[in-house]
Amino acid sequence: MKKLIVANWKCNPTSQKEARQLFDSLKKRLKNLKKTEVVICPPFVYLLGFRFPRSTPAFSEKGQGLRGRQVSSFRLGAQNCFWEEKGAFTGEISPAMLKNLGVKYTILGHSERRKLFRESNEMVNAKVLKALSFGLFPIICLGEDEEERKKGKTFRILEKEIKTALKKVPKSKIRKVVVAYEPIWAIGTGNSCLPDEALTATLFLRKIISKIFSKKTAENIPILYGGSVTSENAQDYLREQGIDGLLVGGASLRTEEFTKIVKSANIN
Ligand code: PGA
Repeated sequence: MKKLIVANWKCNPTSQKEARQLFDSLKKRLKNLKKTEVVICPPFVYLLGFRFPRSTPAFSEKGQGLRGRQVSSFRLGAQNCFWEEKGAFTGEISPAMLKNLGVKYTILGHSERRKLFRESNEMVNAKVLKALSFGLFPIICLGEDEEERKKGKTFRILEKEIKTALKKVPKSKIRKVVVAYEPIWAIGTGNSCLPDEALTATLFLRKIISKIFSKKTAENIPILYGGSVTSENAQDYLREQGIDGLLVGGASLRTEEFTKIVKSANIN
């Protein structure tokens, strides 16, 4: 399985010019990645400028580049999407819109949204189902907070989150699902999770997934780690069998740093 490295730019940068520069410099540095797929998740407003038009080979799943050049293992992702296709939902972006733009992935259920906008497990599930119905690959974020961790509730939280997020996901669509274990206490804190601990969480998630679907499905589902990933610690996660990639926030905004992270994935 290729390693999946997801750049979550969050609410950055503040101008299209900066966004373009960051995107272009990454694209230039990260060519011919054979073992890695890189997903750039900029704010919605920049997606249009980064897309590969549908008519070019770059849009194909095979990763052929513009005019036949191999530009990429690069894919576009959104940071969220709504659970309806269209209609009177002011401010929302639908999975149909993203799909039509050439976006492949969408992050769903990020802890910042769960907290700020009170996104519940049920809302995340509704988004997952709709995203899948439009052919998007959802990246479902889950993880415990500091207090839950201290109280030994981690597994209970993970079980509830994964079970609800995957409710009614048809067997035929499960191969598009990506899961990201992101302990909330590790996000943006510089306090990354020990690789062993991250591995334990991913193994637990696979156990739950295998009960819902099958052992094979659980083995094949990509599970990423996210939370204060840097070029220094990326390898520690990636060398663990069972951690299939990384969701990178802060470090994905720094070209050199993110390049190093991706390169460390590409040698594993
Ligand atoms: P971080 O963010 O790498 O800045 O900790 C990760 C995330 O929020 O996905």
